[in-house]
Amino acid sequence: MRSGHGGGCVTPAADVKTLVINERDVSARADQTILEAAREIGVWIPTLCHLDGLGDVGACRMCLVEIKGSHRLQPACATRVEEGMTVTTHSERLEKYRRMTLELLFAERNHVCAVCVANGACELQALAQLHGLDHVQFPYRFPALSVDASHERFSKDHNRCILCTRCVRVCSEVEGARTWDVMGRGGDSQVITDLNQPWGTSETCTSCGKCVQVCPTGALFEKSKVGTLFPKSPEFLTYLSLMRDGRR
Ligand code: SF4
Ligand code: SF4
Ligand code: FES
Repeated sequence: MRSGHGGGCVTPAADVKTLVINERDVSARADQTILEAAREIGVWIPTLCHLDGLGDVGACRMCLVEIKGSHRLQPACATRVEEGMTVTTHSERLEKYRRMTLELLFAERNHVCAVCVANGACELQALAQLHGLDHVQFPYRFPALSVDASHERFSKDHNRCILCTRCVRVCSEVEGARTWDVMGRGGDSQVITDLNQPWGTSETCTSCGKCVQVCPTGALFEKSKVGTLFPKSPEFLTYLSLMRDGRR
């Protein structure tokens, strides 16, 4: 809102919070998350379910941070900044949790990178490499999961799905088709199209491919594109959201 008196223009001051991130004094808008505030000062926090341009659900727990005075770790992507907050984004404890989160993701499904279409172009694999994950201490579940290749252009492989719900959110929030949903509970959940019918028979899917672009693993992929031919472009969403917010 703008108001002018005597030709002047007054813009109301944004609601600003001051906090401490990794021992640095930081100012952030009240509507910003810890993740956004940290990024603005160049602090990188690992994420999987978060994607610029999509609403946050705090599902993967990769971005957990410590907040002084709270025993519970909080997801940086889904926690708003607060006045006087003291945040730690990297510590031995957090590294332990992040590594454990990654190990659980690998143990839950069948992530055999060597024979995955996304090998070399996978966010889960990249984070595992970054965290020096050379073994998994949890028992592998080896679930018997299906692959849906019924769509003319795309395939869905539940073996590689990490249930980040990026596909669900982009289809609903950006494309407006609402084709995707999640069925079931916990680790046994599955992403489904329409009423759990083959993707190729979906009446709502517009075949825009946005879900494929934002999927961080090889769970959704374009047929005929594998390995190094597989690069996805999740950053198109950041561009879309910046344009939408008029920030460019
Ligand atoms: S291709 Fe587009 S419309 Fe179809 S499921 Fe993916 S995001 Fe939704
Ligand atoms: S299919 Fe891909 S984008 Fe969708 S929940 Fe699974 S990993 Fe995430
Ligand atoms: S990136 Fe924050 S919980 Fe997944």
